[in-house]
Formats: sequence, structure tokens, C-alpha cells
Amino acid sequence: MSQMRSITITRPDDWHLHVRDNEYLANVVPHTASTFSRAIIMPNLNPPVTSVELALAYRKRILSALPENTAFNPLMVLYLTNNTTTDEIVKACNETNIHAVKYYPAGATTNSDAGVTDIKNCYDALAKMEELGLPLLVHGEVTDPDVDVFDREQVFIDKVLLPVTKKFPLLKIVLEHITTKHAAEFVTDSNENIAATITPHHLLFNRNVMFKGGMNPHYYCLPILKREMHRQALIAVATSGNQKFFLGTDSAPHAQDKKETSCGCAGIYSAHAAIELYAEVFDEANALDKLEGFASFFGADFYGLPRNTGTITLEKTDWQVPDSYSFAQQKLIPLRAGEIIHWKKV
Ligand code: DOR
Ligand code: ZN
Repeated sequence: MSQMRSITITRPDDWHLHVRDNEYLANVVPHTASTFSRAIIMPNLNPPVTSVELALAYRKRILSALPENTAFNPLMVLYLTNNTTTDEIVKACNETNIHAVKYYPAGATTNSDAGVTDIKNCYDALAKMEELGLPLLVHGEVTDPDVDVFDREQVFIDKVLLPVTKKFPLLKIVLEHITTKHAAEFVTDSNENIAATITPHHLLFNRNVMFKGGMNPHYYCLPILKREMHRQALIAVATSGNQKFFLGTDSAPHAQDKKETSCGCAGIYSAHAAIELYAEVFDEANALDKLEGFASFFGADFYGLPRNTGTITLEKTDWQVPDSYSFAQQKLIPLRAGEIIHWKKV
């Protein structure tokens, strides 16, 4: 832990965010927009955001959920399917508000049924993205039920991702929400076209937290939390100053009754305190001086976007997270609900 009580950094961006749609937007978008300048908006709606037209309409709905006088730029993403055409890729490239394409293996997670059943079906689209410089964002888990859920990221990297990187060496790829030492090493050792986002929850918790004193569904996310050894590897790369690793919260709101049920949804909500949670991790690792690169520079650089100009200031002050937030007519249980966070944006 460092002695620093306050830190000012360039305004950060969130390179992996779920905000859902329609009546849910107004409760979650302001949390992100109060801290972050931009966010990569995940397209796993139902139905998914598979075209430029759908992405631009979704972007408008997000913008109309913003409080007045809030500047926030939602960076839109297309949802890759077996049938995504090269024409749609070209269209996406020509649209300034679309920044990437997301690859969900079919069945891997929330609203991924329309995802890709075999990445070979998408090779034409990937070739076009490689040619035009449009990044591929990857949910890196195999869906084979015979593969242990804790091994699905590693198996995906070896069996699916590695061949893709060999076939398309110039394709820009973000391996999203990495959770293992294996992923950290894979990205570190890859060429400069491969980067990764890291969530606050995978930096803060190992898998024990899901079972501490009983079953804790609010810590269930995908990829699932891993052992302590993996968490340590993620902290090491996040705080290393290596520009391949940057901030992506994967804040994924689900209503309370969809989490606390016999078959609960995967997802952890962290947008209410995202930068503060990262600050805790970096402080604990004595690496607060590395927070700005991770949160505010490396993602923009990878996406070829300008770095932000304003700043935010965080202070080492305890505050208590509410027990819940409103989520349309329902409730949303945030990460650290009712507990103390040691950093606060002022
Ligand atoms: O925990 C997760 N929640 N992982 C995902 O990949 C999807 C996300 C969601 O949309 O709820
Ligand atoms: Zn996600």
C-alpha cells in the first residue's frame, strides 16, 4: 500500500461494458458516464446487434439515457455471426461510431445463442477486418461441456485463438476479460496486434469468494473467477505498464431476481465504482503510478483513438456502496453492496 492519498489521472475509458437497453439504460449509463469519457458497448442484446443500422439505433438510445450536460461517447460494436458479410464489415469500417466486432462462441454466455458455431465460418469477415484494421473482440472460452469450466479459457486460447492469430497475423484482437496466467502470458508473448482487457472483479477476487459462507451468486460471472495464482498473474500484468493490457470492466447488470434464483445469470455490476475498485487494486500493489496508462492511455492507443484530455481525481476516502440500485422496476445488486470502498472520485 502506498502513502498516496490522492491521484489525478487523465479521464479514463471503459473498453468493455454492458448497459442493456430501453428502460434499463437510465439506471446504468449515468454511472459509467460520470467517470469515463468513452466505453466499448457490448452488442449481446436480445436480439443481438448484428448490423450497422442496429448499432447506430442502439447508440441513439444510449445517448438519450444520459443526464443533461454529460459528455459520453458510446463506442459501438457489431455482434459477429456465422453469416456476417464482408459488406457489413466494410460498412462498419466506414462508420465513425463503430469500432469493433465481437466474437461470442455460440452458447458461451448471456445472449450468445446467435454467436459463432465455428470461427472458420467467419474467415472471410476476419480477412476483411484484418485488411481494414477493424479490431476483433473475443470472448475467449470454449463451450464444449466436456471441458472443465475452469479450463475453458486456456483451451480456447490453444485450440481456437492461436490458429486465428496464425492465419490473420495483422488482425487486431482484444482478448476480453482475461482470467488466467495462461492468457496473460499468451498476450504478453504475442505480437503488438494482440491486447487484453482486465476486469476489476478478476483483479480483486479469486474463486473462493463465490463460496464464502455459502453460495454467492453475485460473484458468478463468465469467464468464472479462477484460483489465486491466476489473480496474481493478472495483477502483475495490469500493474506492469505493459500497454497490451487495459481497463475493461465487463460491468454486466442483471436484475436481482435473475441473479438470486435457481439458475442465475452470469455477470457482476461494477459501473457504480469501477475506477475506485481498480484504484484499490493498484494501491494494494503499490502501483498507483501505473493506473493512468492502464485506465486512460493504452486502450485508446490500441484502438487508434485520441487520448482523452480532461482529468479525474481520486481520493483515499472510505464510502459505503448502497445495498442496491434501481433497475427499471427491479433492483440491481452492485459489487461490494453495503460494503466500504477505500477510494472515491471527487
Ligand atoms: O459475466 C458475464 N456477463 N460474462 C459475459 O460474458 C456476459 C455478461 C453479460 O452480458 O451478462
Ligand atoms: Zn462482457
